[in-house]
Amino acid sequence: MVITAATRVLAGAGVASPRVDAELLTAHVLGVSRSRLLTAPPPDAAQCAEIDRLVAARRTRIPLQHLTGTAPFYGHEFEVGPGVFVPRFETELLVEWALQHVPGEKTRIVDLCGGSGAIAVAVAQQQSEVYCVEQSPAALRWLRRNVARLAPDVRVVEGDATDPAVLRGLDGTVDLVLSNPPYVPEGAPVDVEVAVHDPHDAVFAGADGLALMPGLVGRATDLLRPGGWLGIEHDDTQGASLPELIRATGRFDAVTDHRDLAGRPRFVTGRRMAD
Ligand SMILES: C[S@@+](CC[C@H](N)C(=O)[O-])C[C@H]1O[C@@H](n2cnc3c(N)ncnc32)[C@H](O)[C@@H]1O
Repeated sequence: MVITAATRVLAGAGVASPRVDAELLTAHVLGVSRSRLLTAPPPDAAQCAEIDRLVAARRTRIPLQHLTGTAPFYGHEFEVGPGVFVPRFETELLVEWALQHVPGEKTRIVDLCGGSGAIAVAVAQQQSEVYCVEQSPAALRWLRRNVARLAPDVRVVEGDATDPAVLRGLDGTVDLVLSNPPYVPEGAPVDVEVAVHDPHDAVFAGADGLALMPGLVGRATDLLRPGGWLGIEHDDTQGASLPELIRATGRFDAVTDHRDLAGRPRFVTGRRMAD
């Protein structure tokens, strides 16, 4: 009953997955997982009021994850809220690829543009040495919290991911550089949740969305050891342009673009050549 009514309200507000959101908000209030909703006792009056409050907020297109306070990513629950980008399911593809390229226990990994720490924490499960660079003070607060709780060995670095001075001491020694940077072209249509609640600098990057890429690729070129790998998530309009940008540096071979489960170009990888 409660879920059906909530679904109707959310559908009317244009929420993309109204039933799922109604179930997740209800499960959050009841303190159970979504899969346990069917067997959970029905909400009491106070819980119904709380569900109503959350549904009313979600109806204004506040992101679901800001209301529950967490976002799942690669088996972890990341704390998220205003000021930090909510990690997306599709970025798990980059993590999966990365974990296949972790050569051993001593792997040194740098995550450029860390946000909540989703990628850095996910790849840190392999006893690697992981660095996570982020420049937004608001995002850094969430990042530090997540790292402290989920992967305390990850080293958080405050700074511009394109700045050659950041992590300069690691130049030429890194096995894997990963990044899910801002890449959406300015003015591209996005959901209200993204337009209003994700930080602008976490999402948009110039007219073609590629504004940060030359700097990131340049920084990765310096950080990586010969034979080390680079992986960057990108917009589905950049499946040709970003690989081309990386090839044009003349410093990477095996440059390959990868598609997501829906067949859209999603991330590019390449191997650092010897100088
Ligand atoms: C799309 S979000 C990705 C966050 C996280 N990696 C993830 O996958 O969920 C991009 C992040 O890059 C950060 N960022 C943007 N420009 C940056 C720069 N020049 N240096 C460091 N971080 C930057 C933003 O603050 C934001 O947290």
